[in-house]
Amino acid sequence: MTGQTTWDPDQYQRYRGYRDRPALDLMVQLPGDLEPATIWDLGCGTGEHAAVLAARHPNCTVYGLDSSADMLERARATRARVEWVQGDIAAFAPDVPPDLIFTNAALQWVGDHETLFPRLAGQLAPGGVFACQMPMSFAESWHHVMRDVAGRGPWASRMQDVRGVQPVLAPADYHRLLAPFGETDIWTTTYLHELTGEDPVVDWMKGTGLRPYLARLPDPAEQREFLDAYAEALRPLFPVQPDGVTLFPFPRLFLMLRRG
Ligand SMILES: C[S@@+](CC[C@H](N)C(=O)[O-])C[C@H]1O[C@@H](n2cnc3c(N)ncnc32)[C@H](O)[C@@H]1O
Repeated sequence: MTGQTTWDPDQYQRYRGYRDRPALDLMVQLPGDLEPATIWDLGCGTGEHAAVLAARHPNCTVYGLDSSADMLERARATRARVEWVQGDIAAFAPDVPPDLIFTNAALQWVGDHETLFPRLAGQLAPGGVFACQMPMSFAESWHHVMRDVAGRGPWASRMQDVRGVQPVLAPADYHRLLAPFGETDIWTTTYLHELTGEDPVVDWMKGTGLRPYLARLPDPAEQREFLDAYAEALRPLFPVQPDGVTLFPFPRLFLMLRRG
C-alpha cells in the first residue's frame, strides 16, 4: 500500500494545527506515573510528536518509525533526539519491549486490525502503554464521494485496486482486542474544524486520503480533472458559511491501553 502512496510533507503540514490537536489530546491522557525507557512513535510522519515525547522524557530512547523516506527526511530536520527508522508498521518487531507505543493518525493506513492491535499490545513491556488515535473518516461523506468519483471517471479502471485509508473497527471491537492485555480507556471526539479557502476539504484530503488515488494519475491535467470532479461533488455537502468558513466535522477515535 505505502509503495503506491507518496507523501508530501508540505501539503501534509498545511493543516498542522488541526492535525496536532488530537495527538496532543492523546498525549495529555498518558499516565502521569509512566517513566518510559523506550518509546516508539509508529507512523511518525514529519516527527513533531516524537520530538515532543523526547523532550518530555529526556532519559528515554525515542524511535520514530515511518515507511516514507520523504516524511523521515523532514523528521530528521527537526534535529530532535529521536532515532528515525524507515520500516513498515505491519512488520514492527522491536528488540526491546517498548514502555510506550504512540501512534497518531497512522494505523488507519495499515490493514488487519484484528491481528495488528493484539500484536502491538503484546509487544509492550509490563506496565507499558499503547496510545493510538485514528480518524474515523472512512465512512464519512467526503471519503464516500472520493471513492465514488474514483470509480466513475475515465480513470476508473486504474483506480480499481487502490488501497487507501482502511475502515477502522467499532470502538467496542478495539476494547475486545485490547482489554485482555490490561486496562483500557477508549473515547471518541468530533472536532468541528473551521476551514477557509476554496474547496478546503479537497485541499485537506490532498495531504492524506487522496494520495493513493492521485498517485495513479501522473498526468497533471488528468489529476486536475479528477480534483475538479471531487470538488464539485463536495461543494453541496460543505457549503461556505456566512462568515466565510467551511465547517468540517471530523470524528476521531482514541485508544489507550495500560498493560497489566
Ligand atoms: C497521516 S500521517 C500521520 C503522521 C504523524 N503521526 C502525525 O500525526 O502527524 C500517516 C503516516 O503514516 C505513515 N505510514 C502509513 N502506513 C505505514 C506503514 N505501514 N508503516 C509505516 N508507516 C506508515 C505514512 O508514511 C505517514 O507518514
